[in-house]
Amino acid sequence: MTHSTPTPTTATPAPIHALVTGAAGGIGRGICFALIAQARRDGAPIHISAAASAPSEKLDHLLAELRAAGATAQGITGDITDPAQCVDLVAQAHAGGGDLTALVCNAGASGPGRLVDLPVAQWDHTFHLNTRSVFVMAQAAYPQLVRTRGSITAVASMSGLTPHPGYGGYSAAKAALIMLCRQMAQEWGAEGIRVNAVCPGMTHTPLTAPVYTDPAVKTQRESLVPLGRIGQPEDIGRTVAFLAGPGAAYITGQSLVVDGGISDHMLTMIPGRPGRPPIGSAPK
Ligand SMILES: NC(=O)c1ccc[n+]([C@@H]2O[C@H](COP(=O)([O-])OP(=O)(O)OC[C@H]3O[C@@H](n4cnc5c(N)ncnc54)[C@H](OP(=O)(O)O)[C@@H]3O)[C@@H](O)[C@H]2O)c1
Repeated sequence: MTHSTPTPTTATPAPIHALVTGAAGGIGRGICFALIAQARRDGAPIHISAAASAPSEKLDHLLAELRAAGATAQGITGDITDPAQCVDLVAQAHAGGGDLTALVCNAGASGPGRLVDLPVAQWDHTFHLNTRSVFVMAQAAYPQLVRTRGSITAVASMSGLTPHPGYGGYSAAKAALIMLCRQMAQEWGAEGIRVNAVCPGMTHTPLTAPVYTDPAVKTQRESLVPLGRIGQPEDIGRTVAFLAGPGAAYITGQSLVVDGGISDHMLTMIPGRPGRPPIGSAPK
């Protein structure tokens, strides 16, 4: 078998235009900076359309940081629980940066609630925010992504793979999101569009920060993670950047769990089983 020697090329890689929802939040920021770092490594110019629910100093500050890191960036705003505003966000991105090469649907939230008395309005809100928004934005971005043979990456959750009791419709909404990504991957693969999901585990962000102000809770949580620490936004960001970018050119319809191993830790917690690691022994 012979191997041909690749011809060296000096061509600049195609420009990247990524729309990131929830960009000014914890994981969103991690995603933006990871996308920039990856573009720099690849030698590709990058434009980020950083989406937030409304104008804010937080968003302005992020835009200044993204530009300082080497990207061009624009802020775009809209409430993604409203389908019309989802479509408008994609239009704002296109108006300022041309065709998208990557749609990153990261915005979302959980909230406490027991199914036995969960208000239907709360169920609907959870699905509109975490699931329907991704469908509507992906549909709106589809023509652009066909032209660029681009990617869609959604931030789901380990709660979309394992039931999360006491969190209302969150697990069901993220599970539906994972399946939506798999279905889009099947329907749009022929157009060259790849669609994947990332499932973070416990990640330290503004959403979860109140939990970690109690050192005892933080230590207890760390002790359940085989890798011995709580995830950081950059852990998720690097994974999203990989799946959104050229390194994942043959990956579609997948959900990648980024949780330090906690999801698979359950069976080690059954008392009396040989090989059960002592609780609280996770290395720092
Ligand atoms: N942190 C974790 O442990 C964890 C674990 C698993 C999955 N996740 C998922 O990771 C994603 C990011 O979460 P995070 O921890 O980074 O939380 P975060 O810091 O609160 O960020 C969430 C972002 O979502 C945006 N958002 C919320 N409601 C919106 C709306 N109606 N319209 C537009 N944008 C809206 C917010 O934008 P504004 O600030 O502009 O309002 C916020 O920046 C979520 O999908 C979450 O479900 C997080």
